[in-house]
Amino acid sequence: MAARGGFSSRLGFILAAAGSAVGLGNIWKFPFEVGAGGGAAFVLIYLSCCFILAYPVMIAEIAIGRKTQRNPAGAFSALGFKNWSFVGVLGILCGVTILSYYNVVAGWAFGYFIEMVQGHFEIGSKFGSFVSNVAKVGSYGLIFMFFTTLIVSRGISGGIEKAAKILMPTLIAMIAGLAIYSMFLPHAMEGIKFYLIPDFSKINFSVIYSALGQAFFSLSLGMGALITYGSYVGRKENIVTSAAYITLADVGIACLAGLMMFPLVAFNNGGDMENIQSGAGLIFQTLPSVFESIGPNLGVIVGSFFFLLLSFAALTSTVSLLEVPVSYVVDEHKVERKKAVWLVALIVFIIGIPSLVGNGYSEFFSNFITYVGADKPTDFMTFIGHVANDSFLPLGGFLISIFVAYVWKKKNLNEEIEAGFESFKGSIVEKYIDFSIRYICPIILGSLFILTVLGRFF
Ligand code: PHE
Repeated sequence: MAARGGFSSRLGFILAAAGSAVGLGNIWKFPFEVGAGGGAAFVLIYLSCCFILAYPVMIAEIAIGRKTQRNPAGAFSALGFKNWSFVGVLGILCGVTILSYYNVVAGWAFGYFIEMVQGHFEIGSKFGSFVSNVAKVGSYGLIFMFFTTLIVSRGISGGIEKAAKILMPTLIAMIAGLAIYSMFLPHAMEGIKFYLIPDFSKINFSVIYSALGQAFFSLSLGMGALITYGSYVGRKENIVTSAAYITLADVGIACLAGLMMFPLVAFNNGGDMENIQSGAGLIFQTLPSVFESIGPNLGVIVGSFFFLLLSFAALTSTVSLLEVPVSYVVDEHKVERKKAVWLVALIVFIIGIPSLVGNGYSEFFSNFITYVGADKPTDFMTFIGHVANDSFLPLGGFLISIFVAYVWKKKNLNEEIEAGFESFKGSIVEKYIDFSIRYICPIILGSLFILTVLGRFF
């Protein structure tokens, strides 16, 4: 096989994988899911899903990738289970679908950065006309896909790892800075209270599966992104601790993003947390006016800074989303990397067109489907978000845990983990991972998948 490249250091891998995890999911989606799901109560369920269900699946994905040094589809065959390669194929398709709409939102973020630099604070109240201006958001989307493509085409250590090493520390410093700043604004405490004091009366089934979907989405699990990144890791690395760092970085940044966001929202609403804007518009509609009230000059700086930060976060995620189908085309179809990258990016951009036009421009895609029992139709982008993130990622996690526990088997998983972690055998971590992969993940992920599909579509 042609040289596939690899990460040059353990830190490089952890930063790249954390870069994949930390993205729009943490800064754009997490706060509005928290808002819709009753504040802190949602956060608690989300954290449980991350540590009990998602963390063990992450270890399994990295182990499969590292053992086989292949893309998700090829990995299952390389282990000798060709029948299971459908799980990898499903994951790759899911990744392509997510990237197709994720890039649209990333384009909005980048577009907002440009608007903020020019001091266009009124953009928040014009969100609707911004996202339906297809020529404009289409160009921003194209530019964003171009940045992603440039990084991925430079390969693993020279592109993905290098970008993560620059972007991740910058991102963390930016979020921490903004979180501290926002805590000194008037009404900040009301926002913090909403975020940190749980209201359990808001919890229902749909909140639970959004929390689960969010955990898988935010940790980039269930579609083979970490099988792919794992395939570029050397055998000496300790998968268990690397996965712990990645999970902690992701959860930590989501929590920090909440600390930054809710004071801003409270400030904007004069402390009223009952009627906060929720949904995709939360940060795009609310924040520009917050930045405006900070003052004309400082507002431009803070506002541009925020949307640049959001674009950076999105970029390390789009890079990982693109790498999954690219690694497949390179490994399985022997296409040269650069060619594969540009080709796949173009296809994904085209698949993203319904998401691009489904925010007001096209009547059909903006009112794509009406769920059972819902009074309003759902747009195409939200719909495929539900299908891919909330349904297929947990399904992928379910299949991966079944595969590892009952097909590939514990002995092989352990052997792979032990290659970089000698004292794993017999440790409490071993028992915990084994129990979770064998029982908790299959039961909870399987039943939630079925109930989600039944609840939404039947
Ligand atoms: N984890 C990313 C985010 O939170 C999204 C993502 C999902 C990236 C799946 C890769 C794979 O924004």
